[in-house]
Amino acid sequence: MTDELAERAIAILRENDRGIYTVPTKGLYPFQWNWDSCLTALGQRHFDEARAWTEIETLFAHQWPDGMVPHIVFHVYDDGYFPGPEVWSTGRPVATSGITQPAVAGFAVRRLWERATDRAAADARARALLPKVAAWHRWFFSHRDPGGEGLAAILHPWEAGRDNSIDWDEAFDRVPTDGIAPYTRRDTQHANPAHRPTKAQYDRYLWLVEHFRGLGWDNAKLHDASPFQVVDPGFNGILLRACADLAALAGALGDTGIADENRAFAERGLAAMEGLWSDAHGQYLCRDRTTGRLIDSASSGGLLAAFAAIPAARAGAIAGTVARLGREARYIVPSHDPADPRFEPARYWRGPVWLVVNYMIADGLRVAGQPAAADAITASSLDLIRESGFAEYYDPMTGEPLGGSTFTWTAAMVLEFLKG
Ligand code: DGY
Repeated sequence: MTDELAERAIAILRENDRGIYTVPTKGLYPFQWNWDSCLTALGQRHFDEARAWTEIETLFAHQWPDGMVPHIVFHVYDDGYFPGPEVWSTGRPVATSGITQPAVAGFAVRRLWERATDRAAADARARALLPKVAAWHRWFFSHRDPGGEGLAAILHPWEAGRDNSIDWDEAFDRVPTDGIAPYTRRDTQHANPAHRPTKAQYDRYLWLVEHFRGLGWDNAKLHDASPFQVVDPGFNGILLRACADLAALAGALGDTGIADENRAFAERGLAAMEGLWSDAHGQYLCRDRTTGRLIDSASSGGLLAAFAAIPAARAGAIAGTVARLGREARYIVPSHDPADPRFEPARYWRGPVWLVVNYMIADGLRVAGQPAAADAITASSLDLIRESGFAEYYDPMTGEPLGGSTFTWTAAMVLEFLKG
């Protein structure tokens, strides 16, 4: 069974492979997505190590001069997706979006390098990526943390990757919708609209894109000009883990400058993360940077923070929260606490289980000395695959497969869960 699952996962990764990048799934997402690609490489390494490096190299070939790595690279035109390159209008040689996504690359590059079998190739390829990933990390702290808090804000829900999380509801209410150009969604032609974000949310996604486009995508202006600035513990947990991993990799490859800089980012950020902790919820919460207040919303973002080297007591509490969620839901980890009346088990990031989040929470908890919680998350993830196939996301109460099917990063995570 294990071999058969692995074979199916590899077949999906091959089917979605476009040569130098991989689409998340056919139809719904026909381009290269940033964090999808970095996590996809982790699956590819199990059957084609060279191809795994290429996945990340292709992404970084489209890094902006200021250091940002965009969330979508529109390699080949496809009108099946909205908003396409004409809406973003970022003026890049190969069209890209104008916002970023969680900084998984530093973690992925270290893992590829550490577990490589072709040492010479791994050294050369990691060495070439090192300054690029370092420039991206520097970009987060200069452009998304101008006050020097140690944590980066997202300026658009798509940056967190958790597009319609309940975390954003309150802050998103303050984003206007007036003046946006008329548009036709394409996502609802590929996936059940009841499982996708609402029109009210799409209007605001688009307002922010048009607002940033009006500022010429100048990252020196975007942060302060955005009505939406949220410090997400999940997004920062990934960034701080990536900083620590890049520091370790740079140290091993002899680049002490990058190592010292990234170690300092990680230490400062982890200290600041303490301000996001909630004893009442047994997890971290988002902070709305425009009001300075914590957002009362127990999403998986506050558990995902465990991907970084948080204090042992915090990791222990998060393991306890995961165990409680396991009593509330049949499958873990729901993207929102089912006890919250706002929980929607089938709507994208308002309740469903996502295997990439499971993978990162499990990895962090294992490193933090919480193997039972990590094992429970892994077992639940593989149960979902066996029972419901390689979906984009799953209903945590029933296991129903939701969103896109034959999904790339789900397949990649299965290979990681099975083969580590
Ligand atoms: C989408 O289009 O649904 C994506 O999540 C945005 O990146």
